[in-house]
Amino acid sequence: MKHLCLMLGVLLCTCLGVHRENFRTCSQSGFCKRQRNMEPGTSSYVVQPSTLRISSSSLMVEVLNTKNNIRFLLQGYGLQHGIFRVKLAEAEALRERYEIPVGLTLVAEPVQEELKYHGEKDGKLTFSLGQNKMVINVNPLRLDFLINDEPVTSLNAQGLLKFEHSRTKEGWFSSLGSSVFSLLSQPFREAKDEGAGEESEGEQKEEGEEVKAEEEEEPDMWEETFKGFTDSKPNGPVSVGLDIAFPGFRYVYGIPEHADTFALKTTKNTDPYRLYNLDVFEYELNSPMALYGHIPFMAAHNEKNTVGVFFQNAAEGWVDIHSNVADKSVFSNLADFVTGNNEVPQTDTHWFFEDGIIDIFVLLGPGPRDIFKQYASLTGNTPLPPLWSLAYHQCRWNYNDQDDVRNVDQTMDKFDIPFDVIWLDIEHTDSKKYFTWDGSRFSNSIEMLRNLSSKGRRMVTIVDPHLKREDGYRVYSDARDKGLLVKNKDGNDFDGWCWPGSSSWPDFMEKHVRDWWADQFALDKYVGTADNLFVWNDMNEPSVFNAPEITFPKDVKHLSGRENREVHNLFGKLVHDATFDGLLKRSNYQERPFVLTRAFFAGSQRTSAVWTGDNMGEWSHLKMTVPMMLSLNLAGIHFSGADVGGFFKNPDNELLTRWYQAGVFQPFFRAHAHIDTKRREPYLLPEAYMVVAREAIKKRYTYLPFWYQLFHESETTGMPVMRAIWMEYPKETNVFAMDDEYLLGDAILVKPVVDQGQTDIAVYFPGENTVWYDIDTYKTYPGRQEANVEAPLSKLPAFQRGGSIVPRKMRGRRAASLMYNDPFTLIVCLDKQGKAGGQLYFDDYHSYGYRNGQYALTELSFHNFKLENSVKFKGEGFTTKEWLERVVVAGVNTEPKKIHLVKPDGTKMELGHTYDAQSKVLTIRKPGVNVAEKWIINLH
Ligand SMILES: *[C@@H]1O[C@H](CO)[C@@H](O)[C@H](O)[C@H]1NC(C)=O
Repeated sequence: MKHLCLMLGVLLCTCLGVHRENFRTCSQSGFCKRQRNMEPGTSSYVVQPSTLRISSSSLMVEVLNTKNNIRFLLQGYGLQHGIFRVKLAEAEALRERYEIPVGLTLVAEPVQEELKYHGEKDGKLTFSLGQNKMVINVNPLRLDFLINDEPVTSLNAQGLLKFEHSRTKEGWFSSLGSSVFSLLSQPFREAKDEGAGEESEGEQKEEGEEVKAEEEEEPDMWEETFKGFTDSKPNGPVSVGLDIAFPGFRYVYGIPEHADTFALKTTKNTDPYRLYNLDVFEYELNSPMALYGHIPFMAAHNEKNTVGVFFQNAAEGWVDIHSNVADKSVFSNLADFVTGNNEVPQTDTHWFFEDGIIDIFVLLGPGPRDIFKQYASLTGNTPLPPLWSLAYHQCRWNYNDQDDVRNVDQTMDKFDIPFDVIWLDIEHTDSKKYFTWDGSRFSNSIEMLRNLSSKGRRMVTIVDPHLKREDGYRVYSDARDKGLLVKNKDGNDFDGWCWPGSSSWPDFMEKHVRDWWADQFALDKYVGTADNLFVWNDMNEPSVFNAPEITFPKDVKHLSGRENREVHNLFGKLVHDATFDGLLKRSNYQERPFVLTRAFFAGSQRTSAVWTGDNMGEWSHLKMTVPMMLSLNLAGIHFSGADVGGFFKNPDNELLTRWYQAGVFQPFFRAHAHIDTKRREPYLLPEAYMVVAREAIKKRYTYLPFWYQLFHESETTGMPVMRAIWMEYPKETNVFAMDDEYLLGDAILVKPVVDQGQTDIAVYFPGENTVWYDIDTYKTYPGRQEANVEAPLSKLPAFQRGGSIVPRKMRGRRAASLMYNDPFTLIVCLDKQGKAGGQLYFDDYHSYGYRNGQYALTELSFHNFKLENSVKFKGEGFTTKEWLERVVVAGVNTEPKKIHLVKPDGTKMELGHTYDAQSKVLTIRKPGVNVAEKWIINLH
């Protein structure tokens, strides 16, 4: 949203771009340096097969670090949908490491599935899970994962595993003994009952036996200073890291959020990609620097397989990436599999986190659809948003007062530009005290909200997680008195600087604190609000202006006693989780909430939409929106968007107009701007541009039924809404790194214009034997080739796939909530065989009724000159008034003589039509039938 430059003023900031020096580089971070400096080679970690214990779906076995005799416990699980889980932690630790409780990141305890043990042979323990295998190499420890006996992922193949065991500053081994936290207590069967190998004696260490120091003590192990801030590091060095190889894969994707290409780059000559939730002012493009939120999920894709790894760890992380294709060298020790074949591409990744354990889910696809289903089975789906939230949002820092709000609302109507939500930024509050209003500017917020509501519109206000430390501020004093605030390292309430000045933060890590926060959204607590007000959480990384890297110091203490170091990347997610719960409670669990967040973590999709933070009004930032959103969509964050127009700076008319066009086909569509920018509501554009921006926004509204369908599919299958082309065309190698065009679902191909002065654009059309139709003219383009498409300012290049049916609603309305009962237009684009198919999903567009069966789902199919709608599901008592106004069929070679509708009751009716022989488009007029019923349209 904005940053401290404003607050600190010109004294401290020049505000000329990212302040790199505010953020650590790898070489300024002790654990990053120690982990990154690991040399590939033989790992000192060795499996102790005699200790193997197995159950029907899991295994545990001890691992010894032969350098220092520290013992670890390796646990493996077989999970449903073909997922392996591998955990590695100290067998006996001085301190219980943080493991994220189920329900925060994982949506539920993953369902286990039968893991078959095939015994030990040649120093390898083999387990199978359906078609997939996990092979544990004993000495040194290495885990290989195979699909149909082909290796696709390998852990510790380079031998970079480094688990910094717990220790005390005085000499850690002296305190080993009864107080240790032991993992060796779970009831497991003896593996030898299952035909395991010979039990070898004498390998186990006795407790307290002397151990060797693994590494020299380094100065930054017990204390670290950055920019004058000292991190007390009471637990010393506690990082974990290992390498993950993807043999056979040239490309890996994911680990958002970075302002970089979709296909991740080699980090040979840069810092690793950093995963640490931070408020980065005027962020740089094409950089591995950390941004606001992070998801430690990576996918690899090639012509044969798509696989993924989810490294569940909430501490600061870094990921190095090397590729034998990009880097011209092979590191991994996969000789057993790919002997002597240097032509096989391979990507080697190296992950390290400052704290926590190693907890990795290996998702073995084998196709794109499979990994999305697998990842969603772990971290949950994006729940179907209310329809209005998929429409256009008008935001700015700030709409100054209720007159300003009314004026924007009225002027949008005057210019016939639809919008659904107007947003208020921090200035609407009384002195940045969230849950309050500045009474001099919003003297009658209830009436303001009612006025918006009367037009079918809503408001979103900002509620940040920092609380102004002021006695009279109820929310703060309540939190303080109840002991809900995050502590500093000495145990007092942490006091940091944010918008209101001196602030404190509720400890969202705790369930009872989240419940307390949720209660604040009740209409009698958040005074002056109504049920058409929704919420936006910003600064939840959290942003702390006067702290190291503009966030909590790492030794800040949560109520559990844990340091922020252990949980940092999860904190922001729990803020928006609690906000979501608040809105849910407010409606007595009837209405779907809407929350937008800047900080996020794995699982954030379950409760919030995400935007890409404080971008800039520059062409390069417009271009970057697509790769950033593709990464977010890959990692489960389907409802995502970028500030239209760019947050900082003043975009010129052309850029702003092009940005509106791009936003039409991105999931979350909101214009936003910095307080210092010129006003830029779309009606302020000069006429020639305004008309184009208006057409773009209106186009978004006509496609709302399609967006809704996409989000229904997202919720039910885990498939991204915004898809990289390889997700639908997995064998077309030339699209693997493509991130300047993308697909919405499997039906619409989008290539936004992101360069100044462009009047035409080269578009690659995927798909052998596929034909694509321009969505405006129905001009066709054959698949598997590139074509130059005219793209003057008025043109948003987008194409519908032949073979698809896309639902639209063509009546112009000022807000989406006025469209619930509007009639449909179906756009049927025929493939080369004259066929097409699609689905329609209907519910009430705002409540949770659909979870109780209050919805209908129909299947549309066009074949043999016949369009058929068949009802797949219709909940008892569910009805909709929506009807079919028009059917457009593109790719019809000869005009039909007659067209008949067969109604649900079997009666027939002749339908009027027009036919354009030039474009081969048939328009069938007014079938008038209810869309959620069975009906057939016959072409004769
Ligand atoms: C609500 O709308 C009425 C009618 O347009 C207007 O007179 C009034 O000022 C509005 N109230 C607010 C708070 O904007």
